[in-house]
Amino acid sequence: MIEKINGNTKIYGIIGYPVKHSFSPIMHNAAFSELKVDARYVPFCVKPDKISQAIEGIRALGISGFNVTIPHKSSVMEYLDEVAPIARKVGAVNTVKNLNGRLIGTNTDILGFVRSLKELNFNPLNKKIGLLGAGGSSRALLAGLANAGASEILICNRTMERSKKLELEFSRFFPKIKIKSVPLKKINESHLDLLVNSTSVGMLDDEILIDLNLCSKKKHVVDIIYNPSQTKLLRQAENLGIPNLNGLSMLLYQGCEAFEFWTNLPAPKQIMQKQLFKLVN
Ligand code: ATR
Repeated sequence: MIEKINGNTKIYGIIGYPVKHSFSPIMHNAAFSELKVDARYVPFCVKPDKISQAIEGIRALGISGFNVTIPHKSSVMEYLDEVAPIARKVGAVNTVKNLNGRLIGTNTDILGFVRSLKELNFNPLNKKIGLLGAGGSSRALLAGLANAGASEILICNRTMERSKKLELEFSRFFPKIKIKSVPLKKINESHLDLLVNSTSVGMLDDEILIDLNLCSKKKHVVDIIYNPSQTKLLRQAENLGIPNLNGLSMLLYQGCEAFEFWTNLPAPKQIMQKQLFKLVN
């Protein structure tokens, strides 16, 4: 650990509400320390109605970069100088860098998710994928999968108007990809190369939307929940011998992407991963 904070120390952070439980400070501080980058990462608790002042403060203080989490991922966009086109499509920014006073936003959840799939040796190119959920996170996953060349994406959401809206919006962005809002029955009976849960079902209770024991073949299963580290869906996948992954990898890789966006250095993945594992296991 670099001991001294001085006038050269760069400050990074995360704005959110609440933000107390974020894993990002531990992950990024470990990365800075490992690479001997003179920088610190701190959580900033910013209430929803204080976002504009917070961004002004970030500019005034010369903070070098920051992550954005719930509930500011969409609202922050209007205060930035530039937003990456893919983040604009998703409608959310989770990472901002301060480039000589210009605040540049991107969304590292998109690439982070796709990068995490490598842990399963899974490449979305030309694959048929089922996505459960149509919330904020689902939009980033959908953009990542579409960008990576999936051939067909079936979206299923409890509130079908939301998945329908995603279908319409993203079909326009990615006209070559079949993107369809479907009922749960369709997900159940489809052979899928990958099934992804991006809903909160399984986080608070031992629930599942899909019973893998009763549905058609799913070759890979991902749940973006990381706490608990094994949801009922992933437990079922494991018992059935289906390669599966929880959300910790996505958290790790979105962090790696953010670190690289800020510092232009390769993120020390192993160190960051070790810290995350310590927090959830
Ligand atoms: P996030 O930004 O984390 O994605 P969100 O935008 O609130 O959070 O989305 C939560 C997702 O989980 C939504 O797809 C939500 O479905 P609705 O759009 O119908 O609300 C889904 N979800 C949450 N609880 C659910 C439940 N009990 N059954 C089915 N889906 C649920």
